[in-house]
Amino acid sequence: MNATFGVNFLLCIGQMARLLNRNFIIGVTGSIAAYKAAELTRELIREGASVRVVMTEGACEFITPLTMQALSGNPVHTGLLDTEAEAAMGHIELARWADSVIVAPASADSIARLVQGRADDLLGACVLATPAPIFVAPAMNQEMWAKAATQENIGVLRERGIEILGPDSGSQACGDIGAGRLLEPTEIVESLIASFSTGDLAGKHVVITAGPTREPLCPVRYISNRSSGKMGYALAEACLNAGARTTLISGPVHCDAAPGVDVVEVETTREMLEASMTATDGADIFIGAAAVVDFKPETVAAQKIKRAGSESMELKLVANPDIIATIATSDTRPNLVVGFAAETNDVSAYARDKLKRKNLDFIFANDVSDKAIGFNSDSNAGTLISANNEIVMAVSSKRVLAETMIAELAKHLSEK
Ligand code: PMT
Repeated sequence: MNATFGVNFLLCIGQMARLLNRNFIIGVTGSIAAYKAAELTRELIREGASVRVVMTEGACEFITPLTMQALSGNPVHTGLLDTEAEAAMGHIELARWADSVIVAPASADSIARLVQGRADDLLGACVLATPAPIFVAPAMNQEMWAKAATQENIGVLRERGIEILGPDSGSQACGDIGAGRLLEPTEIVESLIASFSTGDLAGKHVVITAGPTREPLCPVRYISNRSSGKMGYALAEACLNAGARTTLISGPVHCDAAPGVDVVEVETTREMLEASMTATDGADIFIGAAAVVDFKPETVAAQKIKRAGSESMELKLVANPDIIATIATSDTRPNLVVGFAAETNDVSAYARDKLKRKNLDFIFANDVSDKAIGFNSDSNAGTLISANNEIVMAVSSKRVLAETMIAELAKHLSEK
């Protein structure tokens, strides 16, 4: 089979939406850093959030409400006594609508006003009226930031449970160097995301592979296996619910990922390896639940292979890379690398061999000869094996099993 390789690979980066269905009020105050509120709005929307912007009079001198309206996709609120705004969404409704209020940039004056509980402008009134968590991201000249008055004000806000984000240090618009720069919008967004994560894996990044890989023989045929992806998708949901940022590298399956999971779709083993290597840089846990095709055709036919009267056909297969073993020995190895062993006999012994050979921290041994569990079923069972421990997990839904396994891994990670 001479072939010029011509298969279109699909590598589609899923949209990350870690703040889906979250409502934010961004309060913009009079600071040279007001322009960064535009980027903050964009980043929040990119993460799936809804944003309403409240601007003080001072803020409108630095950036126009029109810009913020265009970016947020919502009318911008500027005046406490704006009759139009009152009719649409007054300060009480706005304050109740928000899941979080973030004042960014917060000038020295606006911080002092928050301390006093002033309600003579819309932002002050919203902050007073909201039951939602409040975040303040200061931005001012380094001298103003260092002054006792500002530091005491910040202390008061902290005591009241308001979270202070930043400021950053560095060169300032006024030419000074020091603390007082607004945190980068992406850093503010990460803090806001972390504030919604309360589970065992809050602040952690987990990368999971799921489903089968496919190795093409020709444009119409491929080698693959019976993995449905159900186990890997259940693990992703359990990680998300435990508060982790979750990346799912998925072969071709018919599962829907939980909203908020970052899905990377791949087809071949080589694509899964590349996506895994990229995603695991800086990750805390890697879980290989995918059923990876170990051997691929040495050549791929450019045209459909015809039977043309032949009674047999020879296929030469060559080994694919071992994804999990590559990750487990890489410079960017996550803290925990967890494999799955799909076995039909001597389950425990083969799993233990893979644990050692692939340099893993855990391996989940499941018996795929049992049709009620393993491939394509809604249930699973098996043993979570580490170098010095074995935890037997009885038959349960893949969802419950995933939750049990993730709780166990989170416990281990926190002890590590
Ligand atoms: O997808 P479902 O229908 O829900 O089924 C779930 C499952 C049976 C696929 C799952 O529970 C499971 O056992 N997944 C691993 C399947 C497998 O390929 O096991 P293995 O024993 O061949 O591989 C051992 C480990 O090495 C696995 O973590 C595998 O992802 C990894 N591997 C294997 C080969 C390879 N080239 N690269 C790898 O990373």
